[in-house]
Amino acid sequence: MDSFEFHNPTRLIFGKNKTEALRTEVPKYGKKVLLVYGGGSIKRSGLYDQVLGLLKEAGAEVTELAGVEPNPRLSTVHRGVELCKKHGIELILAVGGGSVIDCSKAIAVGAKYDGDMWDFAQRKAVPQDALPLATVLTMAATGSEMNSGSVISNEETKEKLGWGSPYSFPTFSILDPQNTFSLPKDQTVYGMVDMMSHVLEHYFHQEGNTPVQDGFCETLLRTVIETGPKLINDLENYELRETIMYVGTLALNGMVSMGFRGDWATHNIEHAVSAVYDIPHGGGLAILFPNWMKHNLDVNPARFRKFAVNVFGIDPAGKTDREVGEEGIDALRAFWTSIGAPSRLADYDIDDSQLEVMAEKTVRFGPFGNFAKLDKEAVLDIYRRSL
Ligand code: NZQ
Ligand code: ZN
Repeated sequence: MDSFEFHNPTRLIFGKNKTEALRTEVPKYGKKVLLVYGGGSIKRSGLYDQVLGLLKEAGAEVTELAGVEPNPRLSTVHRGVELCKKHGIELILAVGGGSVIDCSKAIAVGAKYDGDMWDFAQRKAVPQDALPLATVLTMAATGSEMNSGSVISNEETKEKLGWGSPYSFPTFSILDPQNTFSLPKDQTVYGMVDMMSHVLEHYFHQEGNTPVQDGFCETLLRTVIETGPKLINDLENYELRETIMYVGTLALNGMVSMGFRGDWATHNIEHAVSAVYDIPHGGGLAILFPNWMKHNLDVNPARFRKFAVNVFGIDPAGKTDREVGEEGIDALRAFWTSIGAPSRLADYDIDDSQLEVMAEKTVRFGPFGNFAKLDKEAVLDIYRRSL
């Protein structure tokens, strides 16, 4: 293991009917609340009315920012920052999935900064302060509810950049699995692919002596493999939603990745695709991750063998590490296909015309990936395998 420090300041409030905690939690931060949400799912599910009622009981004065896009846009962040400054907002409350939360994180730091929040994404400046942010999660996927990461799309430059700061952890996050009942099957699948991909980004590392971390990761992956197929046929099953919600948070809150650096190349490669084509993040990962694996199989075949045996139960008898590893990669692809995830860029009508443009975006900050360093040629190989 490498040496590490760990600090996650987000208070997690998890369980049935826990949305009601807003009534007592919100007043601790002030009266003036910016309520941020997406394209209307919370109105259809009834959560919007419930949250407004609770905020009223909490004595809050509510300003709203509606319509945060999946793959949230910088222009929406700017609108939120303006509202915060104009109304003297004291607490931002994000009610939604990763996009709503990521947008709210960007608003929280932007509201305390004189320049453009995009400076942070471009590594031109570092946040020094933020408004407090609380979340009510409606989609298990990104882990944004308990991490400091945020991914924002600049629609003018067609860039999608991740950023993060010690100031961008939510102060508290409410996770009631019932709030994910209304999530449709396709988004439920994208969410599960995303959380599995976060675990895989951790799992493919080059550090020695990580038996606890590897075991955590394998358990999380096996749990989604066991739970996912049941959940997609029973979308309002509390226990299945609860299990997946818990996996989603653990997959990217730092708990399973202490003492080593995960890879994170596939996320960079996917962000370039969704920057150009605005596709769902989980859908893009389902297409790309097995191809990142095939591209890197020879970097450390023993690692892929471990994955195949411990996660998918592949029988290694009489086979080379490489052969076992390849079977594991095929098993991952087959699993994702079985729950309805896409497997080719063509599934989103993406052809080879923008591969160069996308590959160029991935190397914007230089060669990347920690399991194996990738350059533009390597990225192009992964894109071509994904067509
Ligand atoms: O906008 P609304 O109407 O709310 O609908 C959303 C959206 O259309 C819908 N939805 C969410 N909860 C629902 C629901 N529909 C019905 N019932 C519910 N309970 O689902 C759609 C997708 O929502 P979105 O928030 O975009 O999905 P997700 O949580 O997957 O977030 C994706 C974004 O997060 C970034 C991605 O790149 C992408 O921009 N990521 C953020 C990370 C982080 N902050 O740590 C890490 C991830 O790797 C990822 O990159
Ligand atoms: Zn992700």
